[in-house]
Amino acid sequence: MRILVINGSPKGSRSNSYKLAKAFLEGMKSGLGEAGHRDETLVDEIDVNRMDISPCLGCFSCWNKTPGKCCIQDEMQTVIEKLLWADVTIWCFPLYYFSVPGKLKTLIDRQLPMVLPFMSEREDQIGNGSHPSRYDMSGKRTVVISTCGFYTAEGNYDGVCSLFDHMCGKDQYTAIFCGQGELFRVPELSARTNEYLEFVRQAGAEYVNRGIREATQAQLKRLLYPREVFESMADASWGIDKESGKKETEALIFTRQMAALYRREAYSGKDQVLEMYYTDFDECYQIVLGREGSQVYPDCSKAATTRIETPFTVWRSIAAGEMRGDEALMKKLYKVKGDFNLMLNWDNYFGSARQEAADKSKQKEQSGEIHIPPKGTNMNMMLLPWIVFWVAVSINGYVGSLLSIGACVLAPLLFYQCKKTLYDTLTGVLVTCFSIAVLCGAAERIVVPLAYLAFGIMWTATCFGKIPLTAHYSMNHYNGESALQNPLFIKTNWILTLMWGILYFITPIWTYFIMGTEISGLTGAINSLLPIFMGIFTAWFQKWYPAKVARGE
Ligand SMILES: Cc1cc2nc3c(=O)[nH]c(=O)nc-3n(C[C@H](O)[C@H](O)[C@H](O)COP(=O)(O)O)c2cc1C
Repeated sequence: MRILVINGSPKGSRSNSYKLAKAFLEGMKSGLGEAGHRDETLVDEIDVNRMDISPCLGCFSCWNKTPGKCCIQDEMQTVIEKLLWADVTIWCFPLYYFSVPGKLKTLIDRQLPMVLPFMSEREDQIGNGSHPSRYDMSGKRTVVISTCGFYTAEGNYDGVCSLFDHMCGKDQYTAIFCGQGELFRVPELSARTNEYLEFVRQAGAEYVNRGIREATQAQLKRLLYPREVFESMADASWGIDKESGKKETEALIFTRQMAALYRREAYSGKDQVLEMYYTDFDECYQIVLGREGSQVYPDCSKAATTRIETPFTVWRSIAAGEMRGDEALMKKLYKVKGDFNLMLNWDNYFGSARQEAADKSKQKEQSGEIHIPPKGTNMNMMLLPWIVFWVAVSINGYVGSLLSIGACVLAPLLFYQCKKTLYDTLTGVLVTCFSIAVLCGAAERIVVPLAYLAFGIMWTATCFGKIPLTAHYSMNHYNGESALQNPLFIKTNWILTLMWGILYFITPIWTYFIMGTEISGLTGAINSLLPIFMGIFTAWFQKWYPAKVARGE
């Protein structure tokens, strides 16, 4: 397949529209590769603004004096040759005044030698009158890709559609029109724009096979950001105060754009004041996150809920995805003072693509559409067999062991919707082995302390690996598996896992003694007291420790 890309943006390879065209082309190539055509794919590109193409003189000499040849000696003849060579032509350009940019229009006008002078009737009823093609263009296909500056492409491409309807015939070309085009050059928003580009890539692959699927087309029509978010970001990007017309500093522009990303859905019922202090610029701004939206205050007169002290460069790198926020925090590149919850729920407040996807699946669930919930882990699946064993076996060895084996079978059934961890499986094996030992006549006074010891070893051993045991379970509350990449989350869980591990390492000591007394039946109950306090401590520590690190202490 021979593919010609005509880039009509004055920005050349820096063009937003060209980014989409490139993604589409990549998709086409991979689609052709899957279908076994890779060797035959040839691509040529035209950067319209670098070409010497003069405006049409309107002399019609290409029709009468030198049929098929223009009298102007410039590079348009090469363009025509390429257009005749290509099986698929991708026209990509920005929307300029609801039409194509001037130089591209010049190129389009100069296609006159490609048609014959005679009048003919159009079969598709587009407009009144046309000229037949000088060449056999049957089988050639056209793709039109364009970005525009307004929040939506809807209603802004009537002129462009009319032009291509006349050029190619109605429904005879494939179009991708995307609003909010300038966002494609903002690295801070690459999570969303890359997601869109991925759908463009997919569209390219589908295009060369069975055609772009409806689901993909729907994704391509989705706004990059909601209108109000985009418009406040766009307004802020100019760095000019709307009221006074004064120029704003880089840090203020950045803060306003960050504020524009605030998701009202995340409102916690109480206004929050996020204070940004840029240490290298000595500039301080507050963003009030309210029910109706966010508001930036260039003075810091309100009481801050959360204050971030950071060099501007660091925060910008984090926002652009060049640096992980959690890693930078661990390295003490910035500090967070006050309420740390806002940081823990950052994605929720400042709209990431992931959060939007989560919201969407929630909406689907509410509207009764089939929804497969993402599987999370559940620590209770692991704890249940152990607790049954410790409590029941210390009361009655025989019955307790049978109950424990039952718990091992029951736990995976009870928690069938949850994701099983290695420790859930290991629990099943260990508790069953200890129960069988008791059933075979081993003394409970030995087996029960050994079970505590095994439990303690299981926890402590994970502290020598990459992911401490508690992290496998608490990640559910911190954006799932992505939390496992967060060094602060891992460190917090490492400390907690070690503390629990030590507790169960020493529990066998007093367990052995208690089980030698008359109150041995209460061993399980007594041994549950300390974990209750540890549980309360854990809940507190999980919040306190990251906040302490964030304060830079
Ligand atoms: C001269 C000019 C005219 C424009 N006219 C429109 C327009 O009519 N409608 C619109 O939505 N955006 C308009 N825009 C914005 C561009 O379409 C938008 O910035 C686009 O993403 C640029 O794409 P590019 O990077 O591929 O050149 C205009 C921009 C310029 C410079």
